[in-house]
This record gives sequence, structure tokens and C-alpha cells, in this order.
Amino acid sequence: MESKLPHVGTSIFSQMTGLANQYQAINLSQGFPEFDAPDFLKTRLAQYSEQGFNQYSPSSGMSALQSQIAALVARRYNQTVEPESTVTVTSGATEALFVAIQAITQVGDEVIVFDPAYDSYAPAIELAGGKAIHIALRAPDFRIDWQQVTNALSDKTRAIIINTPHNPSAKIISQSDVAQLKNLLIKHNLLLISDEVYEHMTFDGQRHFSALLDEEIFARSFVISSFGKTFHCTGWKMGYCVAPKNLSAEFRKVHQYVTFSSFTPAQLALADMLKEHAEHVDELAQFYQQKRDTLVQALQPSRFEILPSEGTYFLLLDYSAISQLDDVAFCEYLVKEVGVAAIPLSVFYDMPPEDKIIRLCFAKHTDTLLRAAEKLCSL
Ligand SMILES: Cc1ncc(COP(=O)(O)O)c(C=O)c1O
Repeated sequence: MESKLPHVGTSIFSQMTGLANQYQAINLSQGFPEFDAPDFLKTRLAQYSEQGFNQYSPSSGMSALQSQIAALVARRYNQTVEPESTVTVTSGATEALFVAIQAITQVGDEVIVFDPAYDSYAPAIELAGGKAIHIALRAPDFRIDWQQVTNALSDKTRAIIINTPHNPSAKIISQSDVAQLKNLLIKHNLLLISDEVYEHMTFDGQRHFSALLDEEIFARSFVISSFGKTFHCTGWKMGYCVAPKNLSAEFRKVHQYVTFSSFTPAQLALADMLKEHAEHVDELAQFYQQKRDTLVQALQPSRFEILPSEGTYFLLLDYSAISQLDDVAFCEYLVKEVGVAAIPLSVFYDMPPEDKIIRLCFAKHTDTLLRAAEKLCSL
């Protein structure tokens, strides 16, 4: 049978986690928290299941959760969204991204993707019969050249995907980028898929730009987020999409045939968590900033060059002063010989540059971060 995704193999994330287990290395590769979800959330999940909330939810989500998501949007971004018609609960941000892409991409359509990019975007575009147009952003500042973006547009361009705060660069889109993006979206009648799964993790007082903040941008956007990131429960695969009514209607047509609905007791537990523990979201930036600072400080004596992390739970390190190996080989060496698993930056590119950069995840206990840093400082 001819593969629909001939270029796709086992992801580097699974490979690195496999190697980390095999070599008992400290796993700073895959992006998931080492700590558990809040007790309140786990207790509510168990209670709702015990109480018999174990059947399908409405396809667009339990209204209690839709309302709490709308309340979160109002609190964080001062925007009013109508929960019933614009908020759809999904099985993780990955499902939401897939559905949004399927909903808008016709055969032959082009979708602009900025590399380094989260690995699900391009396959989802290809499965829809579209073409991902990759625009490479280069380290260390990963700046978007908007002239290059304009040059990449064609009469087939349907949408732009952005991710801010950005995995893996840990950069936040700037105010001037937002202005240029808005300009292009309106001038060329494009849609925006805004992947905001790290929306609550911005550091040093920097503000997150959400597509929800600007009415004209939101009018053409799918804004996607993940409870897995926000509440340390990536294994629950719970997320959501907020989009204007007309776009949500198309989104829901696809969503109902991908999963129909998402895990009912988790929806109810998350609704309670958002309602009764708003402080968890508000304190998340501080929580992760401390972890970033711990890791950055512990790595100061090392020979790595530390790139600035403005948001997310990732940190990039340039190892040019340490090794001439390419980044995949260097990560293999790190996991086998040094005892730390990391992710090579090149895997996030369609056309990888020859940078010598690795990504570490700092959603780990302080002790884990310090032990990993000690090993890295020995290089
Ligand atoms: C940029 C980005 N988008 C989406 C996701 C997927 O989120 P979820 O686990 O909710 O599907 C991730 C997870 O790593 C991510 O880093």
C-alpha cells in the first residue's frame, strides 16, 4: 500500500524517551511535567466518574466547561466569547489542530508553517491534501521576516499557523509581529491557526499575545490551547478551540467525526478546577519562571551557550563550544554517555540548518534539573 505519509517515521520524542529509559538517563527530552496534576483535579475526576458521568458528552463539550473556558478568556484577555457557539472542547490541542486544519484546507491549498515547528502541523496539512509552506526561522532570535512571508504567499495560500509562546524556540511573538501578521491576514484574506498551548507560561513580565486580544484577528482565527500543559495532565489529552461562530461550525463538522466528544469526567473536573482554583493559572508563569531560573543558573558554569527562554517550559542550548557532532548525534551521545536526554533542534525543521542546538524541558523537579545540570557542566 502506498503510504499517505511516506516521510513520517517514529518520532524523535519517542526515540529519545526510549533511549532515556534504556540508559536510565535523566529525561529532559519530551515535553511533559515530572510532577503530578493538582490533587483537587484528580479527586474531582474520580468523583465525577464515581457519580456516573461516564457517557458521551455533547460533541462540542460539557456546557460547564465551555462556560469556564469563556470565563477564562474574559479574565485573561478581557474578551467576551459566547461559550455555546464558539468554544469547542477537544481531545488535546493536537486534535484541535488536526480538526482546524482539516476543516479549512482544500486539496491544493497552501498553509504557511514557521519552522522550527511542532511536528503535527505538516502531516495534518498533507492528510487534508494541502501543502505546508515552510518558512525557516533561524537561531538565536528566530525572528520572522515578514517580507519573506509575503513572498511565500500565493493565490492558494489559505492560512498561517503560529505558535506563541513557541516550542521549541521559547520565544514570544512581538507586538510588531502581531501588527504585520494582522496586516497580511486582512490584506490576503487568510485564516489563522493560533497554537497557544503555552499561553500561561510567559516570563519576566512579558505579555502573551493571544489572537483573542484583537477582534479583527480573532474574526479569522482558531485559537487552540491545552489543559494538559496548564494543569500538568498531558496524559488526559484535553484541550479546546475558540473560534468565531462561522469557523466553529466548520470545525465542529470535522470534530464530530474525529472523536465526537472528549472524556466526560475530565471535562467536569476541569470546569471545577477553573472555577474554584483560578490561582493555578495565574501562578503558572511564576512557577515555571523559577524552574527556568534554577536550570539557567545551574548551567552557568557549563560550556553551553544558553539561549533566552521567554516562555514555554523549554530552554535551548548551543553546544558549538563542546562538540562538532551534528545535533542528532550529539543527543545520542548525551543520552548514552552523559546520562541526559535532550531533543535536537533540527528535527523541528523541514530543511534543517546546521546549528548545534538542543532543547531541554524544565518541567521537572528542582532536584532533577540540578542533577541534569551537574552532568551537563561536566562537558
Ligand atoms: C506547540 C504545541 N502544540 C500542541 C501540543 C499538543 O498539545 P496536547 O498534548 O494538548 O495535544 C504541544 C505538545 O507538546 C505543543 O508543544
